[in-house]
Amino acid sequence: MIEKKYKIGFTVGTFDLFHIGHLNLLRQAKEYCSHLIVGVHTDEWVMYCKKRPTVIPFQERTDIVAAIRYVDEVVKNESYSKLEAWGKYHFDAAFIGDDWKGTDTWNKIETQLREIGCDVIYLPYTQGISTTELRKRIQDASVQK
Ligand code: CTP
Repeated sequence: MIEKKYKIGFTVGTFDLFHIGHLNLLRQAKEYCSHLIVGVHTDEWVMYCKKRPTVIPFQERTDIVAAIRYVDEVVKNESYSKLEAWGKYHFDAAFIGDDWKGTDTWNKIETQLREIGCDVIYLPYTQGISTTELRKRIQDASVQK
C-alpha cells in the first residue's frame, strides 16, 4: 500500500445533486489521506449561505456522500469556521476545489490553519459541471418538453 501524506483529511460541501465534480474532488482528497472526513452542509446552512434551498434534503445528501468509497466519515457542517471544525476533528489537511484558490475566504482560512500546522490543499476543479449548472440543465430540459 502506498503511504498517504496525511493521516486525517477534511473537506466540506453541499453535495446537492451529486455529480462528477463532487466525485473527483472526494477521490483526489482520499489520495492524500488515510481517513477522509466530509462535512455536509445542513439545509439551513445552505439557505443562509447560498440563499436558495437544496434540491436534495440533508439526510439524503449525507447518505449519498457516506456511500462513496473514498469517504471514511461524514459529519454535519453548519459553520464557515474551519478552526471550529479542526477543534473537533484534528485533521492534518483541509481540501477544497481550486475554484476557491485566492479568494479572501480561503486566504484567511489558509493563514489560520497553517498557524496550527494544518495544510490546505487545493484540488483541480472539474470544469463544466456544478449543482448550479445541473439546475439550469434540468430547467432547460423541462422548458423544451
Ligand atoms: N467541486 C469541484 N468541481 C466541480 C464542482 C465542485 O471540484 N465541478 C468541489 C468544490 O470546489 C468543493 C466541493 O466540490 O470543494 C463541494 O462543492 P459544492 O458547493 O457542494 O458543489 P457545486 O457544484 O460547486 O455547487 P454550486 O453550483 O451550488 O456552487
